[in-house]
Amino acid sequence: MAAQYFAERPSSQSRPTDVDVNVRSVSFTYRTDSGVFSHGHLDRGTSLLLHTAPDPPPTGTFCDLGCGAGPIAVTLGLLAPSATVWALDVNERARELTARNAATAGATGVRVSAPDEVPDDVRFDLMWSNPPVRIGKAEMRNLLTTWLDRLTPTGRAVMVVNRHLGADSLQRWLIEQGYPCDRITSRSGFRVLAIDAGQEPRAGSTATRSR
Ligand SMILES: C[S@@+](CC[C@H](N)C(=O)[O-])C[C@H]1O[C@@H](n2cnc3c(N)ncnc32)[C@H](O)[C@@H]1O
Repeated sequence: MAAQYFAERPSSQSRPTDVDVNVRSVSFTYRTDSGVFSHGHLDRGTSLLLHTAPDPPPTGTFCDLGCGAGPIAVTLGLLAPSATVWALDVNERARELTARNAATAGATGVRVSAPDEVPDDVRFDLMWSNPPVRIGKAEMRNLLTTWLDRLTPTGRAVMVVNRHLGADSLQRWLIEQGYPCDRITSRSGFRVLAIDAGQEPRAGSTATRSR
């Protein structure tokens, strides 16, 4: 499954499995499927992010980068019902699941899209992500900076990365690129990292471009 969870059109036979989520003030059931990340369970990293990220603002334009079956997007949509939550994924089956799961949960602000179909002028007040580290280091760094550059001037991104899959080197690299990136949680082999667009770059930044 790991080899193809980011395929555009998974070829594996559909095997829907429902998963319950109880986090903060919200509870919902969402459908997972083969060919989509974390089939049959809520990923431990995603769970840590959902439990420990600072509260989202009550409204605004949010992004779940790499939404999979949608547990992050649906949680954001229920926590902030008047926000617009862009749920982005290259995997068509993931997008279909997220749209279905948001509708079933009543998360009406969730807007599912392929990444390249988001209008150029959309900016994000908040991004929560369990990013696709398995697409490769260079690809993921490129993906992250592409979307981090679409934060509003006071926007915040929170993401969870497995320590064994390069969380600490990713944090160092982001700081070098001029993104003020803090580790806000470290637990069970995962790091939760936050980037606040309004903060000054950390010491160690070698960035020359202005953001
Ligand atoms: C680690 S999974 C997280 C899924 C979901 N957010 C969760 O926590 O269960 C990362 C997701 O990113 C998606 N992805 C891969 N490449 C992408 C890209 N270039 N743009 C957006 N999403 C991408 C994958 O298809 C996958 O669903």
